[in-house]
Amino acid sequence: MVNRSVTRRAVLGGLGGLVLAGGAGLGVRAWQQRGATGPDGPFQENPLVSGLQQLKSEIPLPARYRLPLVVPPVLTPTVDGPRDRYEITQKVATQEIVPGLRTQIWGYDGRFPGPTIVSRRGRPTVVRHRNELPVPTVVHLHGGHTPAESDGYPTDLVLPGSGAPPVPAPSVPAPLGSPSGSAHHGAHDPGAVVTTLTRDYTYPMEQPAATLWYHDHRMDFTGPSVWRGLAGFHLVRDDEEERLPLPGADRELPLMIVDRAFAADGSLSYPALDPDLIHTPGVQEPYTQGVLGDVTLVNGVPWPVHEVTAVRYRLRILNASNARVYDLALRAPNGPLPIVQIGSDGGLLATPVRHDSLTVAPAERFDVVVDFSGVKPGQLVELVNLAGSGPTASVMAFRVTASARDDSAVPDTLAVVEPVDPSSVTVHRAFDFHRGTMYGWTINGQYFDPTAPVFDTTLGTAEIWTFTSDYHHPVHVHLSSFRVLSRGGGPPGPYDAGLKDTVFVNGAEKVSVLVRFTDYPGRFLLHCHNLEHEDMAMMATFRVR
Ligand code: C2O
Ligand code: CU
Ligand code: CU
Repeated sequence: MVNRSVTRRAVLGGLGGLVLAGGAGLGVRAWQQRGATGPDGPFQENPLVSGLQQLKSEIPLPARYRLPLVVPPVLTPTVDGPRDRYEITQKVATQEIVPGLRTQIWGYDGRFPGPTIVSRRGRPTVVRHRNELPVPTVVHLHGGHTPAESDGYPTDLVLPGSGAPPVPAPSVPAPLGSPSGSAHHGAHDPGAVVTTLTRDYTYPMEQPAATLWYHDHRMDFTGPSVWRGLAGFHLVRDDEEERLPLPGADRELPLMIVDRAFAADGSLSYPALDPDLIHTPGVQEPYTQGVLGDVTLVNGVPWPVHEVTAVRYRLRILNASNARVYDLALRAPNGPLPIVQIGSDGGLLATPVRHDSLTVAPAERFDVVVDFSGVKPGQLVELVNLAGSGPTASVMAFRVTASARDDSAVPDTLAVVEPVDPSSVTVHRAFDFHRGTMYGWTINGQYFDPTAPVFDTTLGTAEIWTFTSDYHHPVHVHLSSFRVLSRGGGPPGPYDAGLKDTVFVNGAEKVSVLVRFTDYPGRFLLHCHNLEHEDMAMMATFRVR
């Protein structure tokens, strides 16, 4: 067993004065002190990405809007009575992400993004994952209303099969400066269910039509594992959605947006302390507040272009980035195009919401409809990131090819979404997210300890949870969607509508949500979905009874 606290101390010692503690604007100052610049000049600090550090690729960046968008293939299930079965192999593979360069990835079925799974509401889906990677893995279906044994708890490891190097048992990190000091508290999680080579994840899919995604969730190493490619879409469809005249077939596009950086040989750069991703978790300073890249990928393609006809399209936008928050807008030659939101993380909204731009934090999904009918054939519509600068200000483009017949519409009423009624709620909980440095990221002053649930909650009982923080965090809750009740003392913000499972909490802002867990008892997680924060212990376990 590696004594990770010793490792961390050594690393911190070596960094000397670069290890800064606390204080507003810390990251901004650290960044400016280092005089870092992007390829297109100095990094423009935007509050949505303040403090996060951007890696600089060592390759000439590929040209924008030249490569075609790739839509991940949809897997065909094996029908097994009332269930759909799938098998996915996690493996090391090579993908030509940047033209002319071969990039090693970790991919579901050897591709990034992984293949898309499409489930029907109420029809159970069983996914057998086979781990042929050199490290243990855990699969989590993000947004899934999933029983605990299939939810991908961070210590429920799938160990690699024979032939892979030995791996250490899951252990509780010994955080620097924590009350337990350098002592290893609890090397093993007695509650973990560890398998070798394969594991069947069973998803009942008793949940509304929505855009879900699956990704790695291994304790301490989620950030680098997702960065290497372990992420894919999982869509849920239902009758309620199918009755709506929304754009479908090839006019419905899942868009997984991430940022990455590339080394000179085409490999993915990531400042991991342990490049093997086995022993020492965490990233080097100054990246501990979150790792950004300077290349924007949509479905694994840098700044792609997609040909569309001059009709309505449905875009299922997912921010699968480790730490980057986007502010997305659509720009046509004759002005901006409105973005009409029809769904959120957990399903369709009650009524559509029109936006000029969309702030999308890591792990959030926005289901939107855009109308290209006012754009002339031959023109380009850019999806831009108003929170980016230089290369990260662009995301992708749509080239309008021709006009076409459009029978789609966005009805004023989309789905039945229960109105929120907090008046009878008696259980209130508060969660304060506090930043630190190498391993000092806490919720209510506590580091993640998989052996110790922080509280118990009761199935079916509504509770009000309030999130506060000294830094910006995308806060995610497993098992059930929640509803945003208030933000900053006022009403919910423009991006808070509908069924949410991830909510962006700005520094010094208070966000209250209404949660109610249903159906499945067991242990589940509440955590920050900035993956660097998550890997540095900004997670808590709760038990549903
Ligand atoms: Cu998308 Cu607990 O994670
Ligand atoms: Cu989740
Ligand atoms: Cu965070």
